[in-house]
Amino acid sequence: MLKGKKIILGITGSIAAYKSAYLLRGLIKEGAEVQVIMTEAGKNFITPVTMAALSGKPVLGTFFENSDGSWHSHVDLGIWADLMLIAPASANTMGKMVTGFADNLLVTTYLSAKCPVMIAPAMDLDMYRHPSTQSNIEKLKQFGASIIEPASGELASGLVGKGRMEEPERIVEIVKEFFRNQLQNSTFEGKKILITAGPTFEKIDPVRFIGNYSSGKMGYAIAEELASRGADVVLVSGPVQIKAEHQSIKVIKTESAAQMYEACAQLFPGCHGAVMAAAVADYTPENTTSKKIKREGDDLTLTLKPTKDIAAELGRIKQNNQFLAGFALETNDAVENAKLKLSKKNLDFIVLNSLEDEGAGFMTDTNIITIIDRHNNPQRFPLKNKREVAADIADKIETYLK
Ligand code: PMT
Repeated sequence: MLKGKKIILGITGSIAAYKSAYLLRGLIKEGAEVQVIMTEAGKNFITPVTMAALSGKPVLGTFFENSDGSWHSHVDLGIWADLMLIAPASANTMGKMVTGFADNLLVTTYLSAKCPVMIAPAMDLDMYRHPSTQSNIEKLKQFGASIIEPASGELASGLVGKGRMEEPERIVEIVKEFFRNQLQNSTFEGKKILITAGPTFEKIDPVRFIGNYSSGKMGYAIAEELASRGADVVLVSGPVQIKAEHQSIKVIKTESAAQMYEACAQLFPGCHGAVMAAAVADYTPENTTSKKIKREGDDLTLTLKPTKDIAAELGRIKQNNQFLAGFALETNDAVENAKLKLSKKNLDFIVLNSLEDEGAGFMTDTNIITIIDRHNNPQRFPLKNKREVAADIADKIETYLK
């Protein structure tokens, strides 16, 4: 149920932290990928070594690694996660979350998180029922968090009452139920979507090719985003160094524009739509040689012939119940050129990114996009991480799937 789900498990200073080890084990057993973040107080109750061993990842707790100065980005963590679960959540941490008192990695990550947040409070009964704690819990609910109510029973203080963190097995069930509901309510559930990503390599001879700077990051981010929303993704990828993580992404590796075309033409009729994020070569060498071309004379002339325009071909065979989105990578007259591509390739919308914008385009982790649809309605978004850009594109796709 939790395969491919990315969960941040926040652990704060409460005796119930010992239960977090069982909780972590339960989440991992269900297939989740879990990143543990502990507050300093949390580390007094259970060791990071235990949690790192169970999660298979180093536990995070500080903003920086003193040994090498590397930075743990709370922003990246907040974007990475599908769910942030704070269990146990102490009165102190909940107070900080309410006021935005961001003096540790757990609270900064909470403030940056784009994903749903679940909080399992754990404390003494009087602390729990104090108006201050109750008012903080109400505020956290208003901010959108779900509260996993503590259970009643014997507490560490020896008193009996409400305040015990919910049992780990029950929390795992609540998390599973949450993702189940999310999928059932998702427009993407059961939708098959084709995505192209990365560059194409057009072979000149056995050692040389014509390529481009695409890293595949944009297309892969779209694939991950759509898969996390419940879609079955077929990712036709050019040669890249990155890997798809979500289990609902099927990767088909291609090298040349011709291979990418063959794969897309075959797959598109069985899909609800496609997003063409690959940087496909417009021209390919007319002839390739089986032996390495030798350096002879002054000039070498290569004759190039046009490749198939994959997006335009899919636009030609597109049915009324399918959507087709393309990208436009521009260096000048960006909006006019994008609008031309939108109509020429019969796209439903086009995602314009321009190399005139710093932080946009090839290789970067960020992008700046403008989405233009058939009503020629340009919608410009600010500089964002590519995963967040993918979420904006997914929101647009959703309007077509509905
Ligand atoms: O991979 P990254 O490093 O993350 O970089 C992302 C990106 C810059 C590659 C991406 O955001 C992007 O802009 N992709 C499209 C690049 C491109 O080829 O743009 P274009 O304007 O030349 O092409 C327009 C559209 O036609 C694109 O959807 C393209 O995939 C498609 N096309 C182009 C030529 C061709 N022969 N077949 C196509 O399908």
